[in-house]
Amino acid sequence: MLSQKTIDLVKSTVPALEANGTTVTSTFYKMMFAAHPELLNIFNHVNQAQGRQQTALANTVLAAAKYIDKLETIVPVVNQIAHKHRGLGIKPEHYPIVGEFLLKAIKEVMGDAATDEIINAWAESYGAIAQVFIDIEHNMYESAEKQENGWLDFKEFEVVKKVKESNVITSFYLKAKDGKGVPTFIPGQYITVKVKIPTETYILNRQYSLSCAPGHDYFRISVKREADHDPNGKVSNYLHDFINEGDTLEISAPAGEFTLNEREDAPIALISGGVGLTPMMSMLEALANSGSKREVSYIHSARSEEFHAFKDAVLENISKLENGRVFFGYDKPLNKEGNHHFEGYITKSFLQNIVDENTVCYICGPVPFLKNIVTILQEIGLKDENIRYEFFGPAMNLTAE
Ligand code: HEM
Repeated sequence: MLSQKTIDLVKSTVPALEANGTTVTSTFYKMMFAAHPELLNIFNHVNQAQGRQQTALANTVLAAAKYIDKLETIVPVVNQIAHKHRGLGIKPEHYPIVGEFLLKAIKEVMGDAATDEIINAWAESYGAIAQVFIDIEHNMYESAEKQENGWLDFKEFEVVKKVKESNVITSFYLKAKDGKGVPTFIPGQYITVKVKIPTETYILNRQYSLSCAPGHDYFRISVKREADHDPNGKVSNYLHDFINEGDTLEISAPAGEFTLNEREDAPIALISGGVGLTPMMSMLEALANSGSKREVSYIHSARSEEFHAFKDAVLENISKLENGRVFFGYDKPLNKEGNHHFEGYITKSFLQNIVDENTVCYICGPVPFLKNIVTILQEIGLKDENIRYEFFGPAMNLTAE
């Protein structure tokens, strides 16, 4: 139990942290990686370079400081991060390292204002916050390992099939090399792929949504090629160029909270932009396989026909549904007439004809796409709990710059 004094001291640092939150965490990362370069095998260097992880961690530390006397309030946020941590193999022994350098950074940034009392209060509070993460992650590791065909951390999978889905998206079908099947998962979840690229100093980890429904003896991920020197595309482009059928990839068990709730029966809309269609493919196939009677609208926006992946698979799954509808949209005018097509961007007047305030919407795509769709759905009057989204990179508030 934290004493009232500790709670008050930590809370009193929130304004200073709010003013310097990003400096605290960037100082923290610099010092931590200098002392523990091996951690660069876990962290995403592109996120570091672009300051994204700094923002994510700073925000979470602030949130924790504000709610230090009622930490149960942050559990929903912790759950989402804990899925990511579990998918990356973060362990209890990592927490004291983060704690040590976070405190050093707070001390350095606050200067004389960081009295021993404040630092001790923070040490105690960090311990309490870390314990919330460690406990939740412990349960997640346990259930990932205990599940049928489950495992802890990373396991070797063989690429049994590599299929070009569009001029930028390619699928990799993965089977466990130990001959076991794959565990079940919830449509919408992702796996972490860990690769050692010969030209890179450190191991790289990237998360990819599973693009097939559970129930197969393989996993499928569908990966978008990025521009040649885009640092965000290091792993994706490596997979495209160098990973072929017969090759081995190390992957984590599925994780993530952006998931289809099959117990609900409200109308559902799966709305995606570009490669954001991957979790939707899993959700749509699962709905089709279960013979769902829900009203299902699949809405997908791609740059053009050449960039449009899984068109036939979507039409086939929609045809299996009693109440399925499909809408494809392209930025550019179409070459030929199609029944299901719209032109240009997804607008309010377009969506208004498809969803109402009771529709459960799952949205995935790049940040500008998400911002646009979420705003439209809010304007249409959907409740927050019916607007469910995921985008790539660390979770940030969509209203942030
Ligand atoms: C991701 C917070 C401890 C490694 C994240 C994210 C947050 C966060 C907010 C972004 C989640 C998202 O993308 O949705 C925290 C907090 C911690 C903590 C508050 C302590 C209480 C740790 C520890 C490690 C770690 C101990 C390992 C040394 C990572 C990694 C990512 C991540 C590798 C993925 C993002 C990236 O690679 O840049 N964490 N974390 N975290 N965390 Fe933590």
